Amino acid sequence: MNDVIKEMERYAEANNVPIIEPDSILFIKKYIKLNDVKKILEVGTAIGYSAILMATAKDDVEVTTIERDDKRYREAVKNVNEAGLDDRIEVVFNDALDVNLAGYSYDLIFIDAAKSQLKKYFEKFQNYLNPGGVIITDNIKFHGFVGESSAIESKNLKSLVQKIENYVDFLKNNKEFETKFYDIGDGLSVSVKKKY
Ligand SMILES: C[S@@+](CC[C@H](N)C(=O)[O-])C[C@H]1O[C@@H](n2cnc3c(N)ncnc32)[C@H](O)[C@@H]1O
Repeated sequence: MNDVIKEMERYAEANNVPIIEPDSILFIKKYIKLNDVKKILEVGTAIGYSAILMATAKDDVEVTTIERDDKRYREAVKNVNEAGLDDRIEVVFNDALDVNLAGYSYDLIFIDAAKSQLKKYFEKFQNYLNPGGVIITDNIKFHGFVGESSAIESKNLKSLVQKIENYVDFLKNNKEFETKFYDIGDGLSVSVKKKY
């Protein structure tokens, strides 16, 4: 297993594939163990790095992970097979916003796809959370730019950062969820669905 992980880190570095930061995946693995998470949905697989690491948190974890890029999807399937986790990780090749999950539900949803669409993912996938479930979002600081958008000159970057800032406000004002923000890795938000 360690060899597969090391090779994925090397591949990601060599091919400019963004993968989760070490402290962030450690935090998520700990959350999985402490809260006895069993079913996970990941939005944004890349090459399967975080999916594989989440699945190794404990033996009864099952992950469904969605990737829209063909090359990354194929690389992820290969890595999942090499890790011997094809019975617990399902890689879905599609745009997450087009996936039909009717009948499925999850304890933890990890949002790690296009940062311009965070609110759309949240609004869609919150409907597939089990009671007491959680939505974790990565890159909520976006390299330190979030909260500083007024000083950004590049139009594209400014617009992207403003979308993440709007998402942060959306989470803060969302009465159905209790959200905490963590200064870990590139910033994580942890939104627990309130029980009424
Ligand atoms: C940051 S990477 C994921 C990294 C991965 N979670 C990890 O830590 O190993 C984001 C991935 O999301 C994919 N993606 C972006 N928007 C998507 C969408 N709407 N549906 C499915 N995949 C998407 C991208 O192609 C990219 O591979």
